[in-house]
Amino acid sequence: MSINPSLLAELRRVVGPQGYLDQAADVEPYLVDHRKLYRGATPLVLRPDSTEQVSAIMRLCNEARVGVVPVGGNTSYCGGATPSEDGSQIVLSLARMRRVRSVDPLNYTMIAEAGCVLAEVQAAAASADRLFPMSLGSEGSCQLGGNLSTNAGGTAVLRYGMMRDLILGLEVVLPDGRVLDGLKPLRKDNTGYDLRDLFMGAEGTLGVITAAACKLFSRPASSVTALVGITDPKHAVSLLSRLRSFTGDAVSTFELIPRLALELVLEFVPNTANPLDGRHDWYVLLEIGMGRQDESLRGAIEAELANALEEGQIVDAAIAASESQREMFWRLRETIPEAQRRIGASIKHDVSVTTSELPQFIIEASQLVRSISPTGRIVSYGHLGDGNLHFNVSRPVDQDDESFLRLAPNINRAVHDLIARYGGSISAEHGIGRLKREELVRYKQPVALDVMRAIKQALDPNGIMNPGKVL
Ligand code: MLT
Ligand code: ZN
Repeated sequence: MSINPSLLAELRRVVGPQGYLDQAADVEPYLVDHRKLYRGATPLVLRPDSTEQVSAIMRLCNEARVGVVPVGGNTSYCGGATPSEDGSQIVLSLARMRRVRSVDPLNYTMIAEAGCVLAEVQAAAASADRLFPMSLGSEGSCQLGGNLSTNAGGTAVLRYGMMRDLILGLEVVLPDGRVLDGLKPLRKDNTGYDLRDLFMGAEGTLGVITAAACKLFSRPASSVTALVGITDPKHAVSLLSRLRSFTGDAVSTFELIPRLALELVLEFVPNTANPLDGRHDWYVLLEIGMGRQDESLRGAIEAELANALEEGQIVDAAIAASESQREMFWRLRETIPEAQRRIGASIKHDVSVTTSELPQFIIEASQLVRSISPTGRIVSYGHLGDGNLHFNVSRPVDQDDESFLRLAPNINRAVHDLIARYGGSISAEHGIGRLKREELVRYKQPVALDVMRAIKQALDPNGIMNPGKVL
């Protein structure tokens, strides 16, 4: 199904010569998703540089009933920003809308456009002596709009919440081109339905987010980063509770790392070294931050970790002694996905249960996987403080990718059915995209699905917003 050439010409005219790509080599990066699960086609990638241009694009596409696929940094895991194979959809990149419109340090807020790279948003906050706490492995290339549309999580959710918790208002272009201006940076605005939350986690299926009013925080004046060795995830859960109480909830990161994940990072990622002497079955990367300058913080955490060691809760610990060591500790965690890719195909699950039930879930899910793939390499790491596990299985050493991936439906079913028994979520932070559309229908409450479909129908009756994703 091809798009009418006169519509394509009209769309090019709206954005001007700098605002589109239509040559095969330029369009290519937009056709494949980050995990290379999907390959789509499109005649045109639009790169508008203003909300007005986005509005004009949507109006034209709505009138012509042409599907629009918004894309940010294209780092998502579920194929949510890849066009369909038939070339019937256009791609809308927000990359040129990357202005920080305003920063108000006294109100602790900032208004930024959707195409800002996450690291730029963090830097703009820092230059006003404030913190924008959203932090994840791809922050150097993912964009604010993508983070908003997928309601991104990352490594500081425990303390600051997910993207949804960090936003006060949004500017959104609706499928018919109207602009919903909800950018008021107010903490309190109780005037009816919360429209803002509708668009976060909608993965571009309800409208195009063009800008956001973001919450800012005080920058931690003192912080401690530690890598801890433990024998069992249940000790990680009790250690987290201990440190939350000890610090008055100042733990911002608490990441669980299995032995195999650390070994893969040490083998494949340059400039990494194990700061602990021994090898352990499990590790925790943790960070604690205090708003005020506190010279005694390091000593206090050291003493508390020594108590935990004495009681057998942990078996070893190292505290980063410099900023470069801290960066290296973080590399040990953030490069796990990259290191895991090096050992072949993997079957991924982004699941959540309550933090207290997470250790038992790991035991049961591992048994289920072993019954299907006895030598599959389980790499289950993630955001323990949020009850969110990336329960990933890499192919066995002696199996090829293709035959291993044939087990995916069985492994997915076993893990997701187990998640359902735990009352957990089959997508904790990566969203639904195209990958988990059928799983959503299977596991989401039918009433919730009905409400979602009604909202979609009300806002996008012609079904032009990111067709084929989520619902
Ligand atoms: C992470 O926490 O590293 C990311 O969410 C990606 C992953 O699933 O590996
Ligand atoms: Zn994650």
